[in-house]
Amino acid sequence: SQGAGAPGAPGGVDGPTRARIGARTLRSDRWWAYPLATFVVFLAFIVYATVRAFANSHFYAAPYLSPFYSPCLTDSCEQAGAADFGTPFGWWSLSPALLILIFPLGFRLSCYYYRKAYYRAFWLSPPACAVAEPHRTYTGETRFPLILQNAHRWFWYAAVLVALVLTWDVVLAFRDEHGDWGHMGLGTLLMLANVVLIWLYTLSCHSCRHITGGRLRHFSKHPVRYRMWTFVSRLNADHGRYAWYSLFSVALVDLYIYLLATNVFDDPRFF
Ligand code: FES
Repeated sequence: SQGAGAPGAPGGVDGPTRARIGARTLRSDRWWAYPLATFVVFLAFIVYATVRAFANSHFYAAPYLSPFYSPCLTDSCEQAGAADFGTPFGWWSLSPALLILIFPLGFRLSCYYYRKAYYRAFWLSPPACAVAEPHRTYTGETRFPLILQNAHRWFWYAAVLVALVLTWDVVLAFRDEHGDWGHMGLGTLLMLANVVLIWLYTLSCHSCRHITGGRLRHFSKHPVRYRMWTFVSRLNADHGRYAWYSLFSVALVDLYIYLLATNVFDDPRFF
């Protein structure tokens, strides 16, 4: 898209290099369905995740720890029996989720796929291809605050650490409530499915693709990185799908653990 040009000059779709078309769009399909669905689902997730992150309760139902609260690093984790990594933030009196959610949140907020989705659904910038946006100026991601989206690659490293911790949580979910190994309940399977989706989402990231195979002049001289890049590239084609699936699965696992912790039902056990 074109910038605003001279100060005060019309920008966006009124910019000097844009065709003069009166209609907001010439599209006749249901172009609004995708941004509308995105808006509704994201809003529901934001409300749910905010309520749960601030709750500071019912995040652990032995042996299952909610992914919103992992790693759990404060005294309230210790009281719940969920402080598997100690309590380095024992002095923190608010919800332990607030300490760590900044990393997955920053990762998802700056994700290339989510950016496309929420720029369309929330800022209508533009709402869809070939549909004029309501804004008169356009500066892309060249200025504060959107220039911070460049931090995505750094959030990726943090997201890998979080995914490793969530993987460890799945290992621990093969214990029973007394700490003995050999347990498997529905919660174990849900956490396992969630962590697989989280890894698919994390490894299919565009930054991950660049980290594995970017800046190489000759793939033939870097066969291992070439293989990794090929693998990531294949996953990358479905990155948007993994973004959605892992969003659902992380909320579903948290909800499941909340329902167990509030004794709504018991965890079905397979052994
Ligand atoms: Fe989506 Fe990196 S591009 S997580």
